[in-house]
Amino acid sequence: METSVVRKIPFGKPIVGPEEKQAVSDVLSGPILVHGPRAKEFEEAFAAYTGADYAVAVASCTAALHLSYFNLGLGAGDEVIVPAQTHTATAHAVELCGARPVFVDAEAETGNIDVEQIESGITERTRALSIVHFLGMPVDMDGINGIARKHGLFVVEDCALAIGTYFKQVHAGLHGDVGCFSFYPVKHMTTAEGGMLITKDGDIAEKINRQKAFGQDIFVGQRKVPGQYDVTMLGFNYRLNEIQSALGIEQLKRVDGFCKKRKANYAKLSRQLQNIDEISQLQSSHGEYQSSYYCLSIILNGNLADSRIEIINRLGRMGVGTSIYYPRPVPHLSYYKNKYGYAYTSFPVAARLSAASIALPVGPHLNEDDMEYIAEALKDVISEVK
Ligand SMILES: Cc1ncc(COP(=O)(O)O)c(C=O)c1O
Repeated sequence: METSVVRKIPFGKPIVGPEEKQAVSDVLSGPILVHGPRAKEFEEAFAAYTGADYAVAVASCTAALHLSYFNLGLGAGDEVIVPAQTHTATAHAVELCGARPVFVDAEAETGNIDVEQIESGITERTRALSIVHFLGMPVDMDGINGIARKHGLFVVEDCALAIGTYFKQVHAGLHGDVGCFSFYPVKHMTTAEGGMLITKDGDIAEKINRQKAFGQDIFVGQRKVPGQYDVTMLGFNYRLNEIQSALGIEQLKRVDGFCKKRKANYAKLSRQLQNIDEISQLQSSHGEYQSSYYCLSIILNGNLADSRIEIINRLGRMGVGTSIYYPRPVPHLSYYKNKYGYAYTSFPVAARLSAASIALPVGPHLNEDDMEYIAEALKDVISEVK
């Protein structure tokens, strides 16, 4: 390849246009920065987009996950099944309540939790199942709900990478009891930091709405006498402010376009990579399983995985940004390893995915020429390092 033609292909890049800037500027020109109408409007728009009955805007996906367990009253002695192959936030949300995450290994084809292994982790202390749609590829939610019903468990869907993920034509987050989304900058849409919790259950939505704002009984905009309210439960300050909400409203109007672009880029890159023998690809959309195409994570076959850092660095020098999802299985991260004593040989599938994968970008800031460039760059780099 012409190495003089170095492109700049960041792994993720938020696309923020004049509408978003105007919307944010309007908030800043007005008197209401928190507790205003934009958060409500964003919630209604997000509920309509996903098909949810209720949506609660929160400060991050981590906050949504934490509230999911906090609202259940989870505490010491309780356990939650958590995939080993995920972001640490998925497990931290359980840990923050004083409960214990019980990790389950991934399936090799998709990186999703291995549904077959879940029941071996269930005990009389298990209260919930935490399900992550890994890189946007949906989990078999029929299988999950079957297990949940059998054991009487609450289901939390971590949809941080799953805007545009559908299982049986129903949006991710609506199969379990709650779904938690992230609007962090490299995600499908952004509010800088931010998150949303969706649910079909009005009581859960009402309780979480209050728990995200100190557990107060009357919200600021509803008070007849300023400053007069009671606190009837424990709660946090996990609100999404008006600036973030204004950004979210505008981003949501564009998210279908963003998702379409991701899908086209993914398809192009996946085709281009098909004839490279040294790598494999995770399974993507088929039939009732529709991915959100967050990124294209390649797996380096055999010993090539030992050269992963070298490959990443060389790609970087050619302008190709990459990432790793996720750098280690959560139970192998020091906090969890030290606390629970997991061995590095545990969770072998997640460990292999963590050690051998490179996430390639397919975001809407890129086009199909960029995909060709990434594929060519990867071919060159592999032939140089092997
Ligand atoms: C699967 C998963 N869950 C949760 C999070 C945390 O999201 P947030 O940064 O919005 O708290 C992430 C972040 O990337 C994630 O990948």
